[in-house]
This record gives sequence, structure tokens and C-alpha cells, in this order.
Amino acid sequence: MDKIIIHGGHPLAGSVKISGSKNSALPILAATLLTKETCVIQRVPDLSDCHYMLQILAHLGADVERASGIVTVKAEKVNCVAPYEIVRKMRASICVLGPLLGREKEATVSLPGGCVIGDRPIDLHLRGFQALGAAVRVHGGNVKVFAPSLQGATISLKGKFGTTVLGTDNIMMAAVLADGTTAIEDAACEPEVVDLANFLNKMGAKIEGAGTARIVIEGVKELHGAEHEVIADRIEAGTFLIAGAIAGKEVTINRVRPDHLSAVTDALRACNFSVYGTNGSLSICANGTTKSLDLKTQPYPGFPTDMQAQMCALLSTAAGESSVTESIFPQRFMHVSELKRMGATIELDGATAKIRGVDTLSGAPVMASDLRASAALVLAGLLAEGTTEINRVYHIDRGYEMIDEKLGELGARIERVKV
Ligand code: EPU
Repeated sequence: MDKIIIHGGHPLAGSVKISGSKNSALPILAATLLTKETCVIQRVPDLSDCHYMLQILAHLGADVERASGIVTVKAEKVNCVAPYEIVRKMRASICVLGPLLGREKEATVSLPGGCVIGDRPIDLHLRGFQALGAAVRVHGGNVKVFAPSLQGATISLKGKFGTTVLGTDNIMMAAVLADGTTAIEDAACEPEVVDLANFLNKMGAKIEGAGTARIVIEGVKELHGAEHEVIADRIEAGTFLIAGAIAGKEVTINRVRPDHLSAVTDALRACNFSVYGTNGSLSICANGTTKSLDLKTQPYPGFPTDMQAQMCALLSTAAGESSVTESIFPQRFMHVSELKRMGATIELDGATAKIRGVDTLSGAPVMASDLRASAALVLAGLLAEGTTEINRVYHIDRGYEMIDEKLGELGARIERVKV
């Protein structure tokens, strides 16, 4: 198990290339199951979560090839069962349900458990499949969905914590091959949903409205192969912007979509950073004292839950008191106790972290608990005086391609040690 060691306090400068989006690549790879023909997906990040998805596709019968960031999938025949051994490593495996149901009218996938960021039900996905005419059986830890045929329907994906991103993806992937028209109400508007819809449309699907709360899908008889380049990872991009905010003289992120990052750049500007850029890049530099901020996570275009932990790291040394409220995953605060071990003053009040800025953090051995919490610890390590040792970095490798190398190129003193 690797660990990452960071000697804090070294300024970052220069530019970094942002990778393809993990959360776009995963459902797009799953969508290749919808056709017998060859699909070519470019800019697939080299991450363990993407490797798990490719293993699942291979297990389901697809021929899968990977050459650097380009993945070729040909799923001439598929079997419809994704067992526990193969699914348990990654919750996003659930997004093979939609394409298998769409194509084969049947799918069995081991149910994902909860995870450290909270209880993660799939009731909204299942409600959507049922509305399309599928029966749902849960037995032995597996969920089976099946239907003689799928019939377009109007489906609301409104849940207790808002809509669902992978649920929207799953219903869209099942509905593209249903008879008739499906309307998804209260759909997720995230750029990753739009990216998936764009890929499905290239395959011959008829989807309109992706990126709004109402997506309309006219079912077609079959889909064909297509080529697609995955969008830039807005969460990796946001994480590097915060690295620049925390430790940068001037840091530039390249190959990004600034329009996907507005909530993050607005928050950083409100904290007194200059953020500026052109079409495909953004730069950040400090203007003096970091100001405190009151922030709430929201579905897109609001401030993303996947950037909440990193923002807590930044605000831990802002002047005055900040508050960060998590409205999507109310228990997603595993990073708080580790940040406190580094000297941060944070109190949890329900789903709100109240942060009183301190002058500096101090390096410490800390434990990564989930992907974004780990990223927050890396950021805190860049800021801290002394040495921070982050254990269990496999969490980081799930979602950040070569984070240690990329930060090293910007001037961070960071090393990966094999234990
Ligand atoms: N929810 C339900 N019922 C459902 C589905 C979701 O109640 O059937 C609840 C969840 O428990 C949560 C909220 O709805 O409270 C939103 O969950 P959502 O379904 O949108 O999350 P997801 O689709 O499973 C994706 C990303 C997450 C990201 C969330 C929210 C992928 C692979 N994962 O998860 O990314 O936090 O959307 O934006 O796209 C990450 O990358 O670190 C990560 C966790």
C-alpha cells in the first residue's frame, strides 16, 4: 500500500494538464454495452475506477482494449450478470444496469453497499426502471431488473437529497432503446450527464434537454458504434485551482472547461483570489489574505459536493469564520477529524462544518478515508509546516491521475513511497 509524503510550504508555479473526467468516463464506458459495434472512447483517465469498469465490461463479455487514454470496446454479445466480486470495488458499477436492461431487457448486478460518505441507496434508479415497465427483485445481495419490453414513460427523479446523477444516467441508458418517448423530470444537470447524452446521440439515440431538469428521450430500435472524447475532469481541475490558491504564486490549469467550474471559481474569487483565463485554461493567484466564506453544496450548477472537502482545507487558514454545509451527502465530513489533527479548528454541527481560520497547519501522519477527503489532505499537506504523511493513498488513485507527479511538476515536494 503506497503512501504519499509532502514537505509543506513550497510554492507552486507553472501549468498542469487536466485529465479526462472520471465521472463522465465511467457511465460512457458502461454505455458501450448498448451496441454490438465498436466504440472508441478517448481521454479515459488512467485511474483504478476506470480499470474496474473495464474489468466489468470484460466480465460481461465485451472485448476491451486500452492504449494510453484510448479505450476500444466491442460488446458483440453480453451476459447480464455482474457479480459481487467484480462490482464491490466501485459503487459506480451500478451504471451497467441501465444499458444491460436497455439492450437485453434483463440485468443482475450486486447491490452496492453504503460507503464512508454515507448511505447510498439506489431507490430512484429502481423507481425509474419500474416506470419503464421493468420488474425489480432484490435477493441475495443482488438486484435483478427485467422486462419483456420497455415502454417510454414520464419519470421524476426527485429524492430526499435532490436528484441523482448516476440514476439519471441509468434511466437515460435504458430509455434509449425503449418503445416510445421517455421524459425524465427533475433530472441531474451535471456536465457529465450531458457528456453521456452526447455520446449516446452519436450512437444514434434521440435525446434532448440533457443539461436541464427535463430530458426527453425518443426510443430507437438499435444503436451503433461511435467515437467520443471525454470532457475534462472539473473536480480534478477545481482541486488544482485550490492547490494554486493554497500554495501557488501563479498556477494555470490547461485543457479545462471554465464554464463547468463557475461555482468553484466564484467561491475562490469570494475568498480573495484572482482567477482568470481563456477558453481552455484558467489561472489563479493570491491577492493577500484569504477571506472566509459561507458555502453550501448543491447540485450543478451549484458548488459541487465533490469539492467540499478541498474547500474545507483551504478555509482552515482563511481569516475569520467560515461555514461549509453539505446538502447532498450530509455525512461527508471524514476529512474533518484528520484536518483537525493537522491543527485546523473545525466544529461539526449536523451537516455544517464551522471553520475558524488558524495561522497555519502543521504536518502530521494522516489517513485517507475516501477520494475527495484524501485530496483535501494532500492540499492541507501543501499548506502545512513540516511533513505530512498520507496513508491509504489508493483512495486518491481512484480519482486523480498522477496527482503526485503533477504537483511535483508545479514545484511541490511530494513523494510516493511503496510500503
Ligand atoms: N440518492 C437517493 N436515491 C438514489 C440515488 C441517490 O436517495 O436512488 C441520494 C444519495 O444518497 C445522495 C444524493 O441522492 O444523497 C445524490 O446522489 P447521486 O445519486 O447524485 O450520486 P451518484 O450518482 O451515486 C455521482 C458521483 C459522485 C458525486 C455525486 C453527486 C459518479 C461516479 N459519482 O454519484 O462522485 O458526489 O454524483 O454529485 O459520477 C466522487 O467522484 O468522489 C463522487 C463521490
